[in-house]
Amino acid sequence: MKTAIVLGGSRGIGKAIADSLKSIGCDVIATSKNELDTSSLESVSSFAEKHNEVDILVLNTGGPEPKEFFSVTEEDWNHYHNQLFLGFCLLLQKIKINDGGYIFLMSSNVIKEPNPKLIISSAYRSAFSSVFKILSKEFANKQISCINIAPGPIHTLPMKRLGKPEEIGDFVKSIVENDIKYLSGAVINFDGANSNFVY
Ligand SMILES: NC(=O)c1ccc[n+]([C@@H]2O[C@H](COP(=O)([O-])OP(=O)(O)OC[C@H]3O[C@@H](n4cnc5c(N)ncnc54)[C@H](OP(=O)(O)O)[C@@H]3O)[C@@H](O)[C@H]2O)c1
Repeated sequence: MKTAIVLGGSRGIGKAIADSLKSIGCDVIATSKNELDTSSLESVSSFAEKHNEVDILVLNTGGPEPKEFFSVTEEDWNHYHNQLFLGFCLLLQKIKINDGGYIFLMSSNVIKEPNPKLIISSAYRSAFSSVFKILSKEFANKQISCINIAPGPIHTLPMKRLGKPEEIGDFVKSIVENDIKYLSGAVINFDGANSNFVY
């Protein structure tokens, strides 16, 4: 049986991924902010001491409130530096991903198209996506796939409907269930054809 840790797994996209992985028999730990707060380095360390090995890790957390550059405080920068960047880096240094495993990152379309109203998210998600891309090469020799899922905005989609968290859950499930390994180091634009970028 595969083991999985889904951060931010108590609701939304994280919960949908956790439910999908459970449906194919994975033993899933799905955390809320109370169980693991990625903005708190103590919380990250104590979680990693208890859970130091897994087959599938889903790096997901809450997103910042929209703010433009001149209203962002020093405290905001520090908080989300930890929540969206450093917390994930430390977890990847402390939790061993078993050979043949998967790491999924829940990022955002802002990594490709920075949004001035989401400047914190644009900055730290891009930074961590660069780390994640580099790590995809480090992990490749252990047949560990690193997949960056970048959801888009949900109100203006050409499909004229909201994207469903379950669609991302089903995507993750199908990768794991079908043992797809060669999709690694890639960013998946999960946006219902909303974006204009090709890559
Ligand atoms: N939904 C979208 O359209 C969309 C688009 C682009 C990007 N995203 C990003 O994708 C991620 C998931 O989105 P979502 O819509 O599923 O979010 P959501 O419904 O707000 O759920 C967030 C999850 O993260 C947990 N969480 C919140 N703060 C945390 C922290 N400091 N440390 C660890 N976990 C924390 C929450 O736990 P609690 O239940 O304890 O609060 C919850 O399980 C977010 O980062 C979001 O910004 C979403």
